[in-house]
Amino acid sequence: MSSHTVLPLSSDILDFAEVIAPRGEIDNNADSEEPQLYQTERMKRLSTPWSICVTRAEQLADCRLEKGAILDPACGSGSQLFAYCAELDRAGIGIELDADSAVLSAANGQLVSQLSEGNWASETFVLVGDGTSATSALAEIDLEGRSVAALHVDPARPQDAQNHSLDEMQPPISILLNQWAEHLIIGSKGPAIIIDLSPRLLPVQQEEIEQLLHSHWPDSPITWEWVSTGRGRIDRLTIWFGAAAVVATPARMLRLLSDGSVVSFAGPRTKVKKNPNVIPATGEWLTIIDTALLSSGLQSQWLREALPSDAIRNWVRIDGRRPMLLSNQPIQLEKSLVKAFVSQTGQIKSRLKVEPSPNTISPLLVSANSAYLSKLTLRCKMDPVKQPKLQALLDKGLKGHPRGKAGFLVDVDTLNGSAWYICRES
Ligand SMILES: C[S@@+](CC[C@H](N)C(=O)[O-])C[C@H]1O[C@@H](n2cnc3c(N)ncnc32)[C@H](O)[C@@H]1O
Repeated sequence: MSSHTVLPLSSDILDFAEVIAPRGEIDNNADSEEPQLYQTERMKRLSTPWSICVTRAEQLADCRLEKGAILDPACGSGSQLFAYCAELDRAGIGIELDADSAVLSAANGQLVSQLSEGNWASETFVLVGDGTSATSALAEIDLEGRSVAALHVDPARPQDAQNHSLDEMQPPISILLNQWAEHLIIGSKGPAIIIDLSPRLLPVQQEEIEQLLHSHWPDSPITWEWVSTGRGRIDRLTIWFGAAAVVATPARMLRLLSDGSVVSFAGPRTKVKKNPNVIPATGEWLTIIDTALLSSGLQSQWLREALPSDAIRNWVRIDGRRPMLLSNQPIQLEKSLVKAFVSQTGQIKSRLKVEPSPNTISPLLVSANSAYLSKLTLRCKMDPVKQPKLQALLDKGLKGHPRGKAGFLVDVDTLNGSAWYICRES
């Protein structure tokens, strides 16, 4: 049986944290509600952005949890754990193998508690030790039996996340569940469990994790959650299980915006299909979409918001970095949920008769000029040597039209080969 060292939240712990990872000058920006947490460089890489922590805490607050503590058995900086504690006003138990990280985590708990109302901090502890040693950890803080109302874990993952198995995560999920199962409080939907997983988890591994959870609690619901920060990829994939899941909601997407706010939507996952038969026409709209949307399978939900119900639309590309949608009506960019997944959208002004290259700059400039563009950005597949040359020629050639609109040039694979389109943004 391994032992744990208990770190209560107190102002004394801040002094220890200051020695391990000084916070430096604190920016007392009155507008920011984000606590300035203690973090080493390693923790910064691993930790969940504060706005995501808060959004998740709000989501968990909407779930019906039984009475009991929130547990994070691999708590790192503690940001997610303490966001839950503050939002739900519940005691937290954080466990962290690395002693320095555990001290910083306890200090972060203290900082968050100073900014929040409620009495959760007096019953909240960070333990240094192994998060899989459930019974001994609880004994250290005088708890036993079923005392955990929600378990959240964000295990450390190997760098080469694509090829790793579930049990290479630290702590391993199966051991964690085996050890904690008897300490989780079971409500009508089962226990509340939230597990952060690699965003690159293969579908077969996603199934594996579902099976693992259902082997303990067969009838509990599941909601998968994708988080994107808009860099064209999924940043996080999380499974919400049992009392933490939303019934009949298999998937949810969170998109963190650059101003720190979060937009979210949920629903069933659907398969996206490309229509190889459509040929874009002048006057229609081409929209380059964030790949994260298609990875989540929630594109049908998004489309419902993005276009009027009578709009005709087709996916003209579904793979690679630039999935593309063709529609006969403009995308409703005024909705933040819609805009959040649009990289670029514009009305087709012309189809090029020649392949874009530095040698075809003259006809390209004629087309760009007749579309009243002051800028034309290349968004098409192109030889990486030719691409910057052509972009420079376009920039130079359109410099004399400062009052024009911005546009972009895309390629679409049709049944007859590639076709190139100039689109004007509105
Ligand atoms: C991905 S990080 C957690 C990050 C955390 N969610 C945050 O926002 O800071 C995973 C953490 O698990 C810790 N860890 C790995 N194995 C553990 C174990 N067996 N018991 C407790 N902690 C463990 C690592 O030291 C690391 O800090």
